[in-house]
Amino acid sequence: MIVSEENIDGDIIELTNGAEATVRIEDGCVVKERIQKRYRLRELDERIRKERTKAESRLISEARRLGIPTPIIHDVEKSVIRMQYIPGMPLKHVINEVLSERLGELVGLLHTGGIIHGDLTTSNLILNDDKLYMIDFGLSFMNSAVEARGVDIHVLFQTFESTHHYYESLIEAFCRGYRRVFTGADEVLERVTEIEKRGRYA
Ligand SMILES: Nc1ncnc2c1ncn2[C@@H]1O[C@H](COP(=O)(O)OP(=O)(O)O)[C@@H](O)[C@H]1O
Ligand SMILES: [Mg+2]
Repeated sequence: MIVSEENIDGDIIELTNGAEATVRIEDGCVVKERIQKRYRLRELDERIRKERTKAESRLISEARRLGIPTPIIHDVEKSVIRMQYIPGMPLKHVINEVLSERLGELVGLLHTGGIIHGDLTTSNLILNDDKLYMIDFGLSFMNSAVEARGVDIHVLFQTFESTHHYYESLIEAFCRGYRRVFTGADEVLERVTEIEKRGRYA
C-alpha cells in the first residue's frame, strides 16, 4: 500500500509498510528493509531476513545483466537494501498495448535467463520516461520449469483482468512481446491457459 509521498516528515518518505518490508526514501535512495517477525526465534529470523535480502538484491542485479531495467543496488547490509530510486508512474495507471507488449519482452528476457519474478503485478513495474523498470524481486527465484513460468504470467494476467476492462488486447500484446524474445514461449502460454482452466473448475 502506498502511504503517500506528500506525508513528508524530515527527508524520510515512507512509500509502503507491508507485511514483509518497509520501503522509504532516504537521501534520494530507496531503502527496503525486511521487518522482524516476532513469532520466529530471533536468530533464525535474522538469518532468514538476511538471506532473503541477499537473494533479492542478487536477482535484481542478475535481471539487470539480462537487459531488464531494474534499480541499481547501492548497498546491502543485513536485512536492508539501498537502491536507486526510480521516479515515474506505476504501470497500473498508464498501461496500454504498446507497454504491455514491451512488458512481454521483459518477462521473456527474464524467463530466458532462468528467473521467475514471483509477483508480476502492474504495481511492480514503473514507467520512467520511456523506460519500463521492473522492481520488487522479494518473491523471485531461479527456475526454468514451464509450470513456474506459466504461474508467473498467470498472476500478471489476473491483475489485467481485475483492473482493466480491455484486458484481452493487453494479453494479446503481452504474448506478442513474450514470443518475440523467448523461444519456449508457446509451451508456456499454453500452460497459462491450462492453469486458468484449473482455477475455474477447481
Ligand atoms: N527502486 C524504487 N524506486 C521507486 N519506487 C520504489 C522502488 N522500490 C520500491 N518502490 C515503491 O515502493 C513500493 C513497495 O516496494 P516493493 O519492493 O514492491 O515492496 P513490497 O514487497 O512491500 O511490495 C513499490 O510498489 C513502489 O511504489
Ligand atoms: Mg511490491
